[in-house]
Amino acid sequence: MAATKICPASELISAGKKVVSIDGVEVGIFHLQGEFYAWHNRCPHQGGPVCQGRMFNLVEEVVDENRCSHGRRFNDERLNIVCPWHGTEFDIKTGKSTGAQRWMLRPAKVFVEEGQVILDV
Ligand code: FES
Repeated sequence: MAATKICPASELISAGKKVVSIDGVEVGIFHLQGEFYAWHNRCPHQGGPVCQGRMFNLVEEVVDENRCSHGRRFNDERLNIVCPWHGTEFDIKTGKSTGAQRWMLRPAKVFVEEGQVILDV
């Protein structure tokens, strides 16, 4: 399939996420910390529309050297997308599931050329 012009990069930078369909292939494009990422909109669990899920920062438990918990905090560096069907979370930068490590989103090629986001699926 050929590369397809999606939108101005500035539009995706301000929106943070856009799900598109090109010849029946759905892909989610994300902008995070200055980089673009694109994943096929099909969850490896049971095929749910994973890219249409909500996005949340990774939740971490704060544990000291004595293995005592001091509650939870959001990790500002790691953003996950949550599949709307069963709640599996995926790291937007790597596509890896944060729970079931064997699950991974299928990547699509995305880049910016002359200020336009280009997708090659
Ligand atoms: S289909 Fe995505 S978590 Fe089940």
